[in-house]
Amino acid sequence: MKIAIGCDHGGVELKEEIKKYLFEAGYETKDFGTNSNESCDYPDYAILVAEAVASKEFDFGILICGTGIGIGIAANKIPGIRAALCSDTFSAHATREHNDANILTIGQRVVGPGLALDIVKTFLNTKFEGGRHQNRIDKITEIEKKYYK
Ligand code: RB5
Repeated sequence: MKIAIGCDHGGVELKEEIKKYLFEAGYETKDFGTNSNESCDYPDYAILVAEAVASKEFDFGILICGTGIGIGIAANKIPGIRAALCSDTFSAHATREHNDANILTIGQRVVGPGLALDIVKTFLNTKFEGGRHQNRIDKITEIEKKYYK
């Protein structure tokens, strides 16, 4: 499974923790930056990871910023991306089962590293349920088609 990962300056330390886990667990991972604590703009990294996932080159993306909010809002502008902000494992499980989320966003200033790793593990190990949920995903795709011309 191939994972694209990125962050802004508010997520550098947590990204390193997550990368370490992904490496040890055997995931193929590409880091799209940033790798510095210097202030930067989260949309610049959101688009890199979101395009890598939307193109199907990567199975999933993980994006981290201070809150996980801004970077997720930016990622969700790319057609085909369903980025979900998770601060608990229940949401991580539910967003995979119900929303077929393909990017997980986390706030480094919101959750500690132990919980963040549990969220990552839950997200990557939960399958989409399909069925009635597929119909809803299809409706999201229809909204994209209406507004992205
Ligand atoms: C950066 O200070 C911060 O605004 C950013 O990491 C994120 O929390 C935005 O949503």
